[in-house]
Parts: sequence; structure tokens; C-alpha cells
Amino acid sequence: MIKFLDLKKINTDYETDFKDKIDQFLFSGHYIQGPFVTEFEKAFAHFCNTEYAIGTGNGLDAIRLIFEAYKLSGQLQTGDEIIVPANTYIASILGILHAGLKPVLVDPKLHTYNLDPLKVVEKITSKTKAILAVHLYGLVSDWDNLIKLANTHQLLLIEDAAQAHGALWKGSKTGNLGDAAAFSFYPTKNLGALGDAGLISTNSEELAKLIFALKNYGQIKKYVSQYKGINSRLDDLQAAFLKIKLDHLEKINHKRIMHAQLYHQNLKNPAIKLPVFYNDGRHVYHQYTIRTKKRNQLKAYLASQGIETLIHYPTPPHRQPALKGLVKENFPITDKICNEILSLPIHEKLSEQEIYYIIEKLNRF
Ligand SMILES: Cc1ncc(COP(=O)(O)O)c(C=O)c1O
Repeated sequence: MIKFLDLKKINTDYETDFKDKIDQFLFSGHYIQGPFVTEFEKAFAHFCNTEYAIGTGNGLDAIRLIFEAYKLSGQLQTGDEIIVPANTYIASILGILHAGLKPVLVDPKLHTYNLDPLKVVEKITSKTKAILAVHLYGLVSDWDNLIKLANTHQLLLIEDAAQAHGALWKGSKTGNLGDAAAFSFYPTKNLGALGDAGLISTNSEELAKLIFALKNYGQIKKYVSQYKGINSRLDDLQAAFLKIKLDHLEKINHKRIMHAQLYHQNLKNPAIKLPVFYNDGRHVYHQYTIRTKKRNQLKAYLASQGIETLIHYPTPPHRQPALKGLVKENFPITDKICNEILSLPIHEKLSEQEIYYIIEKLNRF
């Protein structure tokens, strides 16, 4: 059986280092917001080449806290409209809603699965104040055009980089492309923790200070709550694990790109549409997501051949019960994507032999 993702295999590589950190942690007696968090924040800021990185409890809170901080700074107000791709994971939209803002969903481009700037323009109103660009599946959004739009309409440009650690746009890493970026280190991500974890990166000192307080009860110093914050601190042990794995992230991304290249060069089934392929780091293949009109048949056939696949995501946000009544329009491209997509195994622990086996089965379908 080829598993879609083998987290045990991925993480046992770091077993000795993890255990050393657990021992250090246990005997430190300092379990919240200790040195492991600061070390990881520093290392991740350096990785992204940003001034500031603030750890959070998870990626959803990272999105929410960015928007809450912009409200405190006066750049956003309750009810402002935020553009977001309609085919994203629900967390992008919930992060906007939890901050009291209005998500405005936009259909993506079919072949990139990312925001379509031409469709974004159509949705901009006088209430639009920001774009939350999701680098879905690990591919950087159409940044040239989104920057132009943000500049023309004076919009904040925020990255949801939960799926795109280390992906590049013209040599710059995600996290350093917009006004602020949210990351998730959910265990399945290219850089995954062993539990929940998230982070915000930005070059704005003002924003960083606000977020630093907001994620810890709004405290500007111990027991002085300046703002109505939340408790969403990055867990110390997760920070320690992430710091260890961060040193390997470039290698992990490279391996995923190599696997994508094998798929790209060898998949020859006309019934299957491939995702865009780049070997220059623009895409870090958090997912390798193909499309076919016979998706459910293909999924069942692959399962019968011992290949596990997943659908990211089977129900789009606008069809989720939680958003009922909030979104009234139709999103035909998003619906088409949801009905046709299938993510193939791509993780760094797959062997070439396994990839070729998957290719052979797909070509025979
Ligand atoms: C695009 C996107 N945004 C946000 C999130 C939320 O991250 P978390 O699960 O850490 O809250 C995820 C995670 O799954 C995601 O894929």
C-alpha cells in the first residue's frame, strides 16, 4: 500500500534530535514562551528574510490575528471586505470572519487553482480593503498582477502561506511578499509540527508589536492587557521540533519538486490534466493535484491498486453549512475543481520506484 502521506516515516528521521529537545525541555522548568519559541521565530524570520516572525497556536489564528491587528492599527474596520479565493481551505475564510470582516469569494483560475486577478477586479468595491492571497497546494499566487491591483486600489496584500513554506516569487520567499503572511505548521504541511502550530511574518514593526500582544491576552507586559487579545501562543515543544525540521525544509521541498517532475514528464493519460510544473521553487508541491472528469472512478481504481489519494477539498467553502446564507453567488470554476481534483502521493519519503508505479497505474487508467 502506498500511503498518501507517511508522517511516522517522515518524523522518525528526526527521532534522536526530538528526544534531545524533549529532555532539555523537561529539565528546563520553563514551559510557555521560553527560548525554543524565540529561537524558532528568529530562524523562520531569517528563512523568509523578514524582519519579524511571531509564533501562534495554529494557522487559523495566524490569519485572524493579522486582521485583528490591522483593525487595531486603524487600517481595517469591522465589515470591510476582504477578497479571498473561493476554492481555499475553509480556514482562510473563517480567519476573516472571526476578525469581524467580510470575506468576498472569487473563483480561481482553473489551471493554477489560485486567484484570478481579472476576476478579483470585478469584485473590488469601495469597501474592499485587502486581498488574502492563498498560495494553494504550494504555488505562489499570480503576484505581479496582485501587487499591481493592490497598489492601484490601495489594498493590503496578505499571504495565506499555510501550504507554501519556502515557495518563491522572483527569488523572494513566501512570507516576505506582501504586507503580512500567515503560516500553518499542521503536521501534514511541508514543514509540519507534531501538533498544532502557526506563525505570522511581516516587515512592519507596528503590526508585529500588536500581534505579539494580541496572541497573549493583548498584554504589552505581564498582567497589562492593552487589547482584548486571545490565547494563541506557539507551543514551546512544537517550536523546538520545527526548528530542527526547518534546517531540512529546502531538501524536503527539492524532493517534492523532483517527484512532481517525474509525474510531469511521465504521465501521458489524456483523461488526466496535470497541475502546472515549475522546478525553480515557485511551486513546492504541498499537493500534486490532478484533474479528471472521472475522478471518483480514478480514486477507486487507484485504491484497488494499493495507492491512497485524497481530495483537497471535496466540499468548497460556499457549500459548507457554516457559511449558509453568507455567500449567495455561484462559483462554477470552484465547483468544477471540487468535482474533478485528486491529490496524488508526493511526500519526501516516497521512492522513485513508488512514483513510477503510480505513474504506470495512472497511464493504464
Ligand atoms: C490554506 C490554509 N489556510 C489556513 C490553514 C489553517 O491552518 P491550521 O490548521 O494550522 O489552523 C490551513 C491548514 O490546514 C490551510 O491549508
